[in-house]
Amino acid sequence: MTRLSVNINKVATLRNARGGNLPDLEQFARDCEAYGASGITVHPRPDERHVRRQDVYALKSLITTEFNIEGNPEQPFIDLVLDVRPEQVTLVPDAVDQLTSNHGWDTRAHLAKLTTIIQLFKRAGIRVSVFVDADPVMVEYAAKAGADRVELYTGPYADMYDKNPVQAIDMYRLAAEKARELGLGLNAGHDLNLRNLHAFVAAFPWVDEVSIGHALIADALYLGINETIKQYNNALSI
Ligand code: PXP
Repeated sequence: MTRLSVNINKVATLRNARGGNLPDLEQFARDCEAYGASGITVHPRPDERHVRRQDVYALKSLITTEFNIEGNPEQPFIDLVLDVRPEQVTLVPDAVDQLTSNHGWDTRAHLAKLTTIIQLFKRAGIRVSVFVDADPVMVEYAAKAGADRVELYTGPYADMYDKNPVQAIDMYRLAAEKARELGLGLNAGHDLNLRNLHAFVAAFPWVDEVSIGHALIADALYLGINETIKQYNNALSI
């Protein structure tokens, strides 16, 4: 079954709004695991506006499932990941002030840079996933760079799903099949939610992992985090 990694950045944003420790990010991560999450994802941005560097260290020592750290591999991020050694790092090409990730790597244009960085992380025993748009050429060059997995950017899937679900799936077919053909692991993330998640994994049951933050945390306001994780895990079962 596709694994659910809960992105807890939004919980850190809420905490940071008041400067104290409410909600408690570490307790939230523990609870997500207890309620059935298969992993925890964080995206520590350079301005520390949500998850901070010190959170990343604290979380590493308590997470018992799988820790995934996302970010743009500038030197401070590389140093942090090599120091913390999560199970997985996801390379995302977003700018410092970007609201949220909104595109994948041009893996062909950045082949040399990605190859060097991927080698560095793999030598440290960290699985490397590269965030790409749903383009088979980008998947192919991620494989050439030595990536273990690609994470398909599902923002356009979510936009299209509400208008035309069949077309939404079709937009991802070639990239998802290319990953499978090349023996790359497959992750997916961005704007996945309880409406559109099941159709995605039913169409591409070889998806290894989804990482979900915004919609999941919003659902938890109504359902509670325990029930929310149950419902996302149900949506993942096919
Ligand atoms: N994957 C990547 C690479 C991301 O940057 C994000 C957002 O931080 C997500 C997945 C999760 O997206 P969402 O918050 O829309 O579920």
